[in-house]
Amino acid sequence: MHKVVSIPGDGIGTEITAAVKQILEAAGVRIDWVDAEAGEETYHRTGTPLPEETVKAIEEHRVVLKGPLTTPVGAGFRSINVALRQQFDLYSNIRPAKSVPNVGLRYKEVDLVLFRENTQGLYIGREHWVDEAHTHAESIAVVTEEASRKIVTAALEHARTRKRKKVTLVHKANILKLTTGLFLKVGREVAEGYPDVEFQDLIVDNMAMQMVLNPSQFDVIVTTNLFGDILSDLASGLVGGLGVTGSANLGDEAAMFEAVHGSAPDIAGKGLANPVALLFSALMMLEYLGEHHAAMRIRSAVYGVLQDEKELCTPDIGGQGTTQSFADAVCEFLVGE
Ligand SMILES: NC(=O)c1ccc[n+]([C@@H]2O[C@H](COP(=O)([O-])OP(=O)(O)OC[C@H]3O[C@@H](n4cnc5c(N)ncnc54)[C@H](O)[C@@H]3O)[C@@H](O)[C@H]2O)c1
Repeated sequence: MHKVVSIPGDGIGTEITAAVKQILEAAGVRIDWVDAEAGEETYHRTGTPLPEETVKAIEEHRVVLKGPLTTPVGAGFRSINVALRQQFDLYSNIRPAKSVPNVGLRYKEVDLVLFRENTQGLYIGREHWVDEAHTHAESIAVVTEEASRKIVTAALEHARTRKRKKVTLVHKANILKLTTGLFLKVGREVAEGYPDVEFQDLIVDNMAMQMVLNPSQFDVIVTTNLFGDILSDLASGLVGGLGVTGSANLGDEAAMFEAVHGSAPDIAGKGLANPVALLFSALMMLEYLGEHHAAMRIRSAVYGVLQDEKELCTPDIGGQGTTQSFADAVCEFLVGE
């Protein structure tokens, strides 16, 4: 029995978390969920977006399945996602984008894994006003050799162990010569220890265009925090949108699995949220916990439903169904195997 902290989060979080738990249970995965809370709704109810009990539960159990958390735009509390990644040194944000049957048919053979540095860059929250009238703001980006080495090593190790061909490091070292220049320099050094993996680097603006023109030329991508955030959403778009891409936040001491998407306030409470993204994150969690067979069975069931029962899927991927009709269909598929 695995103990996993469950944080449903804001907006569509409760709906998709319930669907994912239902599917894992139908697959016979034994998880003892430790319920915890965080996010905007928690903030309004308790006065803090990240209660101490939630931090303690993560410290104790070290594996988390987390729904999306709303972050106020422009003002208000700092992102709890960013805070959790920094507090538990979840330095490696792994975001696969793989074509699935019958969805996002513009590109057919996308199979990317993006490694995003998760604790530094412009996301450290060191911003300030330069003048009292608030007409001039500054933000500081941090890149260290140590953190760069860790994320590039993680990407190259992944390429080597998963028999992937190529790692592309993405940067903007022509302009941001110190910060992303350091990332590139360290990346090239680390890559010398992996002669079996093809290594290339590309400037981020060119990368964005290349991903749209011909995504199947890429395999493993590694980049800094902000570029990784943007390019991973782009990668999601290549395979059918934010409803179908999961992610893992890994550190040496803890792991947090979450969808790439946010709390989707525009569809929250309507039963229209696609649970596949959180489910794929949960499958990454099952792999992490050694439950490879269960992960494989659930993935096949999802592919089966996408292929044969598209009408039961959610509207974002062209279905006419709901969160619940999709979850029920996957469960039936699992039971009927
Ligand atoms: N990891 C996280 O917790 C995380 C990530 C991104 C954004 N956010 C937060 O989420 C809030 C909303 O952000 P946003 O609107 O920019 O992005 P979003 O990802 O919530 O939504 C973008 C679009 O994608 C759709 N969408 C997202 N997930 C979907 C799903 N599972 N099924 C179907 N459609 C889906 C939404 O309906 C919306 O049209 C913000 O407060 C933001 O800070 C949190």
